[in-house]
Amino acid sequence: MTRPVIAIDGPAASGKGTLARKVAQALGFALLDTGALYRGVALTMIRAGADLGDGDAATATARALTAADIDRLTHDPALRLDETAVGASRVSAVPGVRQALLDFQRTFAANPPGGAPGAVLDGRDIGTVICPDAPVKLFVTASVEVRARRRFAELQGRGENPDFTDVLADMAARDDRDTKRAVAPLVPAADAVLVDNSDMTPDQVFQTALEIVRARLPA
Ligand code: DC
Repeated sequence: MTRPVIAIDGPAASGKGTLARKVAQALGFALLDTGALYRGVALTMIRAGADLGDGDAATATARALTAADIDRLTHDPALRLDETAVGASRVSAVPGVRQALLDFQRTFAANPPGGAPGAVLDGRDIGTVICPDAPVKLFVTASVEVRARRRFAELQGRGENPDFTDVLADMAARDDRDTKRAVAPLVPAADAVLVDNSDMTPDQVFQTALEIVRARLPA
C-alpha cells in the first residue's frame, strides 16, 4: 500500500515547519524536516573545521551521514543556529549533497517510520524533486518583510539585539541563494496550492491547510 505524502515547501521563516508539525500531528503522519538534513551536513563540517565552500567535502560529508547521525543531529540545539542555517543554504546548492540526501528522503516518504499511515515532508524541493507524485502539495510563503519581522522577533525573544535592516538583508540573501541555485531551486510545483500567510494567523494557516488536505486525500 502506498502511503500518502504531504509536501510542504516554502522559504525561510514562512512558518512551513510549524505548519508541517501541526498537520503531521493532526493526521498521525510521520514528519521529516528536510532542512535538518542540510543543516546536519553544515554542522558536521563546521565542527570538523572543514571549508563550507568545498563542494567535494560537502558531498563526502552528506554521503557519510547515517540514519543514526541524522537522528542525533536533529536533536542538537546547534542545528538551529544562524551560522548553521547559512552553512546549510551554501551546502544545499551542491548537486552531490542533494543527490546523497535524496534516498533518505524518498525512503522516509515511502516507508514512514513507526508504521505511520502517511508522511509530511517540509523543505524547498519536496513537491518538485523529492516527491513529485505527492497527492498534496502546499507552498507556504509570506512577503520577505513579514518573514524578516518574524525572524527579528524570534531573535529578540532569544535575548539578542538584532538590527532589522540586517535581518531583512540576510533573509533576502538566503531567498536569493535558495531560489537561484541551479539544482532544485525553491519554486512552487505546478500543482502546489499557494498559501501566502502574510496576513494570516498561524491557526488560520493550519485550518486552510487542513481543508486542502481533506479535499485531496480521501478519508
Ligand atoms: O528550512 P531550513 O531553514 O531548515 O533550511 C536550511 C537550508 O537548507 C535552506 O536555506 C535551504 C536548504 N534546504 C534545501 O535546499 N532543500 C530542502 N528540502 C530543505 C532545506
